[in-house]
Amino acid sequence: MAIEIIGTGHAVPSNRVCNEKLAAQIDTSDEWIRSHTGIGARHIAGEEIAVSDLSLEAALKAAKLASETSELCKGESPEEVAASLDVILIGTSTADFYGTPSTACIVQDKLGAKRAAAMDVNAACTGYIYALETAAALLSISPDRKRALVIGADILTKYTDWSDRGTCVLFGDGAGATILQKTASAEKTGIFRSYLAADGSGAGHLYFSRGGSRFPYKKGETIDEPSYIKMDGKAVYNFAVKALSSTIERLIADEKITIDDIALIIPHQANARIVQAAAKRLKIPEEKFFLNIEEYANTSAASIPIAFDELNRSGRLKKGDLLLSVGFGGGLTFGGNLIRW
Ligand code: ACO
Repeated sequence: MAIEIIGTGHAVPSNRVCNEKLAAQIDTSDEWIRSHTGIGARHIAGEEIAVSDLSLEAALKAAKLASETSELCKGESPEEVAASLDVILIGTSTADFYGTPSTACIVQDKLGAKRAAAMDVNAACTGYIYALETAAALLSISPDRKRALVIGADILTKYTDWSDRGTCVLFGDGAGATILQKTASAEKTGIFRSYLAADGSGAGHLYFSRGGSRFPYKKGETIDEPSYIKMDGKAVYNFAVKALSSTIERLIADEKITIDDIALIIPHQANARIVQAAAKRLKIPEEKFFLNIEEYANTSAASIPIAFDELNRSGRLKKGDLLLSVGFGGGLTFGGNLIRW
């Protein structure tokens, strides 16, 4: 049995904001942002756009691609692919609603995926990595489940304090989707190994300031600021370099392979300098890492599936390529997947 990826898609808001435009509004510069992060632009969701909207668009594109290109979907329309889903998981920390309903349920309804179980997975920027392994496990465990939709999606700019230049330049919005299918293949194809980890002692390094059961909004209170993402940049940077390096080392050791066996490493796109530092530490050429942070900034749980879709549609992935995805983020959480394309 194998869990293979049969379709990918992504969506970002049409409002593209380059560094220069941001620098016209806050005390920063294109030079500072590029040299400290590798970011050149970000796509920002308008008031009317929620995570389920970007997720739905990405999912429809993935279903269309699966219907058009996958042998396993022969004769199925995109709508039939969507209707055949058994599981829908969305890795997100910026769900449409606090608590309930999950964003996955909203997407399930709009897709017409009537028989799918649906839930969100909150592991911050590692959400897609966690959701991918969870979906693979859910497909593996039950003979009745064959197909899953796994999305990573976030709109962090709605939780961004635009007066805090240490965080506001970093984030962008987006969604990436992948459709998984369980097959009878005895080969190690698709998602065949994952590593998931957490270190809750670092919870205070990256958090949303208000709105949860710890600090709920109260009746009658004057709200002087919305729920903002708060981050200790240096602490997160140090954690991220270690998390990236240790996840790569762990997956390679567990699978008893070498870095030369990996065609491409797809890291969470938080900061190009984090990737460069990990590459140096592990003595891996930087070209082995795929980076598209320049265009999208840090899209949180969406960054890895957006990268998958860009790579897939541009023809850069060949059948049989071994890919290593690696994420890290709030919680703190980190982990990665080994995927034979
Ligand atoms: N524009 C211009 N100057 C700035 C800006 C800005 N946007 N932000 C900070 N500065 C200034 C600071 O005020 C400081 O000035 P000073 O020396 O006069 O005091 C100087 O630049 C250096 O500031 P540092 O905070 O030391 O900058 P650093 O090199 O550490 O970079 C950064 C900051 C980019 C936030 C870095 O710490 C980082 O990338 N951390 C990890 C962030 C991350 O990855 N977060 C997400 C991970 S999890 C998730 O994805 C949700």
